Amino acid sequence: MKYEIARLIKEAAPGYISGEELGRHFLVTRTAVWKCIVELRREGYSIEASPRKGYRMLPSEDRLNSYEIADGLDTAVVGREVVYLKSVDSTNDYAKKLAAKGCMDGVAVIGGRQTKGRGRLGRDWESPADKGIYVSVVLRPAIAPAEAQILTLTAAVAAAKAILKSTGIRPGIKWPNDLVIDGKKVCGILLEMNSEADSINYVVLGIGINFSQNAGDFADEIKKSAISLKMAAGNPKNGNGVTTGRLSVIRSLLRELDGMAGLVYSGQYAELLDMWREYSATLGKEVRFEIKGVQYTGIACDITADGKLSVNCSDGVQRDLLSGEVSVRGMYGYI
Ligand code: BTN
Repeated sequence: MKYEIARLIKEAAPGYISGEELGRHFLVTRTAVWKCIVELRREGYSIEASPRKGYRMLPSEDRLNSYEIADGLDTAVVGREVVYLKSVDSTNDYAKKLAAKGCMDGVAVIGGRQTKGRGRLGRDWESPADKGIYVSVVLRPAIAPAEAQILTLTAAVAAAKAILKSTGIRPGIKWPNDLVIDGKKVCGILLEMNSEADSINYVVLGIGINFSQNAGDFADEIKKSAISLKMAAGNPKNGNGVTTGRLSVIRSLLRELDGMAGLVYSGQYAELLDMWREYSATLGKEVRFEIKGVQYTGIACDITADGKLSVNCSDGVQRDLLSGEVSVRGMYGYI
């Protein structure tokens, strides 16, 4: 009932709706309505109470709870069920537990903060309260485990589109799946899979976006290479500044992931790869990598149908690189 009350108060804004009217609507006392208001305020809703006029919702963009995230999302798969946790060890770990218990395809787990946020290659992912976006989605695609890399590319495109649509800032994708703005990392993606030899039981796609950190908020090791959307908005070249909150970025992300998952589920990989190329910050750039102790340099020239990066190496050989096996470094900056 409390979120229904929140919805009615929101619909009445900028006007008021009385406690009596709300009570009549739900066939409860005004005291019961008041108890819901207290709970809603605790969850971050700014509801003004005026003795004669009733309740009024004050504008606030950063209200995170499962109702606000899911309300009217209207997605086919991703976000059909939304779990919001004010604090969680890792949204990926939580989502994996739900998936192992048999949760449905598309469940999204969102954290207000993470106490053990994880990155790729066993690294930590800094996850302070309210400053970042921490989202994990359970997917159950009927594709072969060897094709799972396409999902990572998919998540990168979805996150890039969501950031562009909700903030006006256009990130680039550093192969395979870091999002960069002004040459610094703004978003990372961690794909974890549980599979049989020839089929996937579930995949958890974890996405972390730096939202409102200042440079000083990042740990020393990443200070030079990390950026948040708020910091990016401070650069006039990125537009007029981020006026949006985490809520709209998260909703946009779930919508874009839904659209992209639809393409994977229907086998439209060529469209997906084209979108990846459109956002790529790596293609056309000079890169360096190492295989079995030998250093190579070359120009990143394309992405293959199975998500490998093709590089025209300076020794005249074209090499297709699989993420996880080699790490590609941009010669000039973080691309
Ligand atoms: C990377 O190293 O670039 C990947 C970072 C992934 C971080 C996200 S935040 C939400 C989800 N939960 C985690 O513990 N990790 C991922």
